[in-house]
Amino acid sequence: MSKKRVAVIGAGPSGLAQLRAFQTAAKNGEPIPEVVCFEKQSNWGGLWNYDWRTGVDENGEPCHSSMYRYLWSNGPKEGLEFADYSFEEHFGKQIASYPPRAVLFDYIEGRVLKADIRKWIRFNTAVRWVNYDPATSLFTVTAHDYANDTSYSEEFSHLVVASGHFSTPNVPHYEGFETYNGRLLHAHDFRDAREFTDKDILILGTSYSAEDIGSQCWKYGCKSVTVAHRTAPMGFNWPDNWKEVPALQRVEGKTAHFKDGTSKEVDAIILCTGYKHHFPFLPDDLRLKTANRLATANLYKGVAWIDNPKVFYLGMQDQWFTFNMFDAQAWWARDVIMDKIALPGDKAEMLADVEERITREEVSADGKYCIRYQGDYVEELIAETDYPSFDVDGACEAFYQWKKHKTEAIMEFRDNAYKSVITGTMAPVHHTPWVDALDDSKEVYLQN
Ligand SMILES: Cc1cc2nc3c(=O)[nH]c(=O)nc-3n(C[C@H](O)[C@H](O)[C@H](O)COP(=O)(O)OP(=O)(O)OC[C@H]3O[C@@H](n4cnc5c(N)ncnc54)[C@H](O)[C@@H]3O)c2cc1C
Ligand SMILES: NC(=O)c1ccc[n+]([C@@H]2O[C@H](COP(=O)([O-])OP(=O)(O)OC[C@H]3O[C@@H](n4cnc5c(N)ncnc54)[C@H](OP(=O)(O)O)[C@@H]3O)[C@@H](O)[C@H]2O)c1
Repeated sequence: MSKKRVAVIGAGPSGLAQLRAFQTAAKNGEPIPEVVCFEKQSNWGGLWNYDWRTGVDENGEPCHSSMYRYLWSNGPKEGLEFADYSFEEHFGKQIASYPPRAVLFDYIEGRVLKADIRKWIRFNTAVRWVNYDPATSLFTVTAHDYANDTSYSEEFSHLVVASGHFSTPNVPHYEGFETYNGRLLHAHDFRDAREFTDKDILILGTSYSAEDIGSQCWKYGCKSVTVAHRTAPMGFNWPDNWKEVPALQRVEGKTAHFKDGTSKEVDAIILCTGYKHHFPFLPDDLRLKTANRLATANLYKGVAWIDNPKVFYLGMQDQWFTFNMFDAQAWWARDVIMDKIALPGDKAEMLADVEERITREEVSADGKYCIRYQGDYVEELIAETDYPSFDVDGACEAFYQWKKHKTEAIMEFRDNAYKSVITGTMAPVHHTPWVDALDDSKEVYLQN
């Protein structure tokens, strides 16, 4: 192969960041490799592309999106703003700080429509398998094109895995689930909180899905929320009909029994028990195996696969920073592929980088420490490329404020506003408090 060819798997925010990175270089007059993006869904946006289906999609593939109706950003938009495309540029004005899904989808789409990179994406095309041949140093990507119902294989010099890691649910089993007489589902299949109006619900898990799905159900009128913790309670100042209890032990009929001997009859159990990194299209020697953490295993600079650094993984970390971190990673991967950044010559040096990140992450589990840690990581990567530098300290500060606001009033934190670190403009306070804002359409949200 005379010219480099890059396969990008996934057109969610990470994959789109990769396409945008190459398009920016091309715009600057640099010769870029041929880029082909494979996307199994019929549209871009990844998780932000809402799917009313659960289980399998229209092609029979596992439904990708884990998002649901009425989902608003769970962190301030000032922490995720693209450094090369501000909210003000997109919407023509500054908007409030916790946009609903449809508003953020519009923002993600605006940048890539402007960049004219849709033509690089093969939609309705699922990557089935990737093979690497050391003799030719090429990857063979086998994909299924659902529009034509055909499978085919093509060769590439580089591989970018941007298939996300919040889509394959982690589904634990508890005694009595088989004979439970209520509705039992994982957060991945949760779509509309109104289904649980007037119901007593039990949530397992204490992270963001637990907090937000519980809050949604509460907002749309469920009778009560019980959250069982395996490790520790979330400890927010919850409403009166919300209770945190020790771990679930077993279920009998509709009654859930907890570790402290208490029990509660519940109409629904929602497993907010997280997701698995799942890459069924990758052979063992290319496949990332990692926990959901800030320092991922085996990725130099959190991006390059140390066993074969022509493979890049984007967005595989647990995430405080999102869109701007994916950009930082994508610009960095682009520059390695375009020989502007040289990788260490030996694997030991790359491994040392991974180990240093792990050691530093393990210093503290404190939220503020973790935010700063990931902020430093974003800063480190953007210092090595021409991605526009931005006030990462300011973005960290927005996250610190967010955490404080959540502790003060968990059902009101989305009523706060923060300053853009890209344009310096203060966001307006949203016109309606979150608890009263039942219509989350883009049109209504933007009426500020
Ligand atoms: C419920 C939920 C709410 C969230 N809310 C927020 C939030 O408020 N703010 C925030 O910043 N982040 C949020 N996130 C985090 C989210 O991970 C990121 O915002 C972002 O979507 C990650 O982008 P990604 O491109 O890495 O992955 P994804 O968005 O998951 O996109 C991956 C893409 O790869 C495609 N794909 C997968 N496998 C294949 C294959 N074999 N062949 C072809 N294509 C494939 C998928 O169809 C998908 O389009 C949330 C996550 C979840 C689960
Ligand atoms: N925009 C939004 O509002 C929104 C809403 C939902 C999710 N999200 C995003 O989605 C991503 C994933 O969040 P997540 O909460 O789904 O996953 P997560 O952060 O990985 O948390 C998983 C949770 O499941 C618990 N758990 C795992 N196995 C369990 C078991 N066998 N029994 C009981 N509990 C178990 C864990 O408990 P331990 O602590 O005990 O391990 C943990 O609390 C995050 O990036 C988040 O920001 C955003």
